[in-house]
Amino acid sequence: MERRNGMKTLYEVLDGSSGDAEKLEKAGEILKAGGLVAFPTETVYGLGGDALNPTSSRKIYAAKGRPSDNPLIVHICRFSDLEKIAWDPDGKAALLAEAFWPGPLTMILKKKDIVPPETTGGLSTVAVRFPSHPAALGMIDAAGGFVAAPSANTSGKPSPTSAQYVAEDMDGKIDMILDGGDVGIGLESTIVDLTEDEPMILRPGYVTQEMLEKVLGGVSIDHTILDASSPQRPKAPGMKYRHYAPKGDLAIVEGEPERVTERINALCEKAAQEGKKTGVIAADETAALYRADSVKTVGSREDEEAIAHSLYRILREFDDEGVEVMYSEAFSSRGMGQAIMNRLLKAAGHHVIEA
Ligand code: TXA
Ligand code: MG
Repeated sequence: MERRNGMKTLYEVLDGSSGDAEKLEKAGEILKAGGLVAFPTETVYGLGGDALNPTSSRKIYAAKGRPSDNPLIVHICRFSDLEKIAWDPDGKAALLAEAFWPGPLTMILKKKDIVPPETTGGLSTVAVRFPSHPAALGMIDAAGGFVAAPSANTSGKPSPTSAQYVAEDMDGKIDMILDGGDVGIGLESTIVDLTEDEPMILRPGYVTQEMLEKVLGGVSIDHTILDASSPQRPKAPGMKYRHYAPKGDLAIVEGEPERVTERINALCEKAAQEGKKTGVIAADETAALYRADSVKTVGSREDEEAIAHSLYRILREFDDEGVEVMYSEAFSSRGMGQAIMNRLLKAAGHHVIEA
């Protein structure tokens, strides 16, 4: 790999063979020594550093170009490690851990002193996640058990769903990239805040409100997440920043399906007349109806998991193709659709057009 930013980034491919163990050990050594390693999880790629080492956390912020008031998620690989870093006064975390860990759920809890403020953006709470990806687990174990990791993208860009996208953003800035192929889910974990009386979802994801309610009873959702007009600040510091955004202008068009198609085609025609390169994000069912320079099918409307899986890849592909103006169909915001629409709205800077 070409050296762009001074540091030589090791690139190791994990192929499921017995050779992987050695690569994960090496990653663990780098992390213990205060270095940074990007690694696959079941949601998106993470940019890992030793969560208990303030210097590592500072390096993560620098590599991402991320504001240091935006806290990191601490990744663990054993249930028993939760109580070493966080308090669970009413047992809710234990219940959720039993139901959803290892898996795509992050819990916000009061932190213990061992977690440095550099890792939590100065907050007295800590975000904890126990991922299910075997390579992530092997690496966390080799690193000593506590790995701070945001998504492995440059701040503001879509989270990386493959190691190639990690390399685009991080080559020359970190010590190592572990390539475990395409991720499974494609959107970041659900974040639930357990520090208030009623649990609250701060970021929707694969684990839905209904799934959490089955375990805990009432669970609310931070309404600033789907409503751009709310004057309140989102409770997860990271949700206030522009995010997942492609380089061109993206708008979401919603309404009756036929009118949406007509409207998007008219908008693309106008942009084309102005000499702009156009793109459309559409469901499988309607993709053939669009006229644009680049039409991307995101998956069937019936299959939210497929849509989640391809959304970030498509946003990055538009960047690579130099698309300047993009329109997306809207998707249902029920179940996992809530996570999809949340990311799409953020990518579009909440620009929604009624067809
Ligand atoms: O799926 C995921 O969660 C991925 C993979 C790598 O595990 N990680 C991820 O991290 O998405 P990141 O840093 O890109 O997003 C973490 C979000 C940010 O919006 C941050 O503000 C919020 O979690 N967060 C972290 N700690 C918090 C805390 N103590 N209180 C409130 N929000 C917190
Ligand atoms: Mg992120």
